[in-house]
Amino acid sequence: MAIQSLAPMLAAAQAGGYAVAQFNTDTIEAGQAVLSVATELRAPIILAIGQGVDRAGRLEPLAAGLRAMAEAAEVPVCLHLDHSESLPQIGRALRAGFSGVMIDASAHPLATNIAETRSVLGICAGLGIGVEAELGRVAGVEDDLEVSEEEAGKVDLATVSAFLAAVRPDALAVAVGTAHGFYNRPPEIDFGLIRQVHGLGAPPLVLHGGTGLSDAVLREAVACGMAKLNFATELRKANVDAFVEAAASGSALLDALAKAGSAVAEVAQKKLAITGSVGRASAR
Ligand code: 13P
Repeated sequence: MAIQSLAPMLAAAQAGGYAVAQFNTDTIEAGQAVLSVATELRAPIILAIGQGVDRAGRLEPLAAGLRAMAEAAEVPVCLHLDHSESLPQIGRALRAGFSGVMIDASAHPLATNIAETRSVLGICAGLGIGVEAELGRVAGVEDDLEVSEEEAGKVDLATVSAFLAAVRPDALAVAVGTAHGFYNRPPEIDFGLIRQVHGLGAPPLVLHGGTGLSDAVLREAVACGMAKLNFATELRKANVDAFVEAAASGSALLDALAKAGSAVAEVAQKKLAITGSVGRASAR
């Protein structure tokens, strides 16, 4: 099954009332682990490359490896660029074979966010590359992106309506009370707001900051209309912890990497079970 654009993958999720999991993938091994679980569970999957990978100089090489795996995969796979704030970087992602890109202009005034989202939609039109935009500001730290609690803010309905009247991305991330990274205190997710935004006829909605949310919260978010759930920190922690433990107990490099991969697969398997995407691999 070939690599799939973000747009049809999430349109099928929205129509089917389930969500697709996005797992941020920093290494080839993490990508292999996620893909093996998605294949076993027959679930469509989004492998995302974030800003930290580009800062480390690995965007193109990692994308080449993940793309090759995606093309050979038995389930639909979207290779997605997470939280880009740069048109030149999005151009590089297009050349590197991504099938989804996120333009995160949420820090800017609405008019700028609309203009940037429109530019990216224009660049991606006809190329089979889905575009995710963001409204509101999700608190916390994700790679290079840091949003303080003062800067963070839930989206409001009037802004969503104005945005969608001007531009229509293939997916829309909306700030509804989650945060990137682990939570210091229980988050207050505004499920009513998710329902209201969904009720506006919005494109498939994206929940950022999946780490640390309970299964019940994640399930409710999907029931309210979220069509993509993003997970990064929890996978990274499982990966590093397992690697460090294996290395400390004397495992050889490849064995330690394999144990780290198994830890990633375990987290991915639990999250996929929550999304409702298991068995949906034929949804194209
Ligand atoms: P977490 O790191 O909280 O899982 O958030 C992931 C995310 O939203 C990636 O964009």
